[in-house]
Amino acid sequence: MKKALRFLVVSGPTREPLDPVRYLSNYSTGVMGSELVAAVRRRGHKLTWVRCPEMAESARDLLKLLKKQILKHDVLVMAAAVCDVRPCSVASGKIKKGGLSTICFVPNPDVLATLGRLKRRGQVFVGFALESSNVFQNAQNKLKTKNLELILAQKVNSNIKPFGKTSVNAVLLNNYGGRTDLPAASKAKIAALLIRESERLARLQEST
Ligand code: CTP
Repeated sequence: MKKALRFLVVSGPTREPLDPVRYLSNYSTGVMGSELVAAVRRRGHKLTWVRCPEMAESARDLLKLLKKQILKHDVLVMAAAVCDVRPCSVASGKIKKGGLSTICFVPNPDVLATLGRLKRRGQVFVGFALESSNVFQNAQNKLKTKNLELILAQKVNSNIKPFGKTSVNAVLLNNYGGRTDLPAASKAKIAALLIRESERLARLQEST
C-alpha cells in the first residue's frame, strides 16, 4: 500500500475587523471545504484542517499560521475565501455612521501566492478561482502566477452564486495543460475528483 500523504485543507471566509462592532468579509460558507475534508479522509490520507475565521481570522493571521503548517504537509488545498483588502487601521472604538463612507483600504498579502514562492520540491498546491468573465483564461493565469499544480474555477455573477450550494459548474485545470469540465456537478463529486487528482500529481512528483 502507498504511504499516506499529508494534506493541509484551508476553508471558509477570512474577516478583516473595522472596529469592535464591524468587519469586512465575504459569502463563503465552507461547504466545499467540508467536502474536501471528507474526500481526504475517505482516501486514507493524513489531514490538517484550518477553518477560517475560527482558527485564523484575517489574511495576515492565516499567512502566519500557514507558513508554519506548510512545512509539515505534502498537499495544500487552499479553498479559503481570503479578503483582498483590509482597512488602513482598525478603530479602537465604534466608528460613527458618518465616518463609514471614508474608510480607506490597503491590499492584503496574497496568501497562496506567497506560499507558492516558498514551495518545496514535491509539494502540490491546489487553488480555487472565482471569476465573472474569461473564466478559463483568468484561472490559467492564477495557476501560473500563484505557482499551482491544480486550480478549480467557478463562475460567479448576480445570477450564479456558488456560495452554500451543494452543486455548481466548475472547471479543473492542471499545470500540464489538462482540463476537466464539471457542469452541474455536486461539490462532493468535485471534491473527490480534486483530491484524487492532487494525489496523482503528488505521486507523479515523488517518482520523478
Ligand atoms: N487567495 C489568497 N490570498 C488572497 C486572495 C486569494 O490566498 N489575498 C487565494 C484563494 O484562496 C484562492 C486563490 O487565491 O485559492 C484565488 O482566489 P480568487 O479570489 O479567485 O482570486 P484573487 O487572487 O483574489 O484575484 P481576483 O480577486 O483579482 O480575481
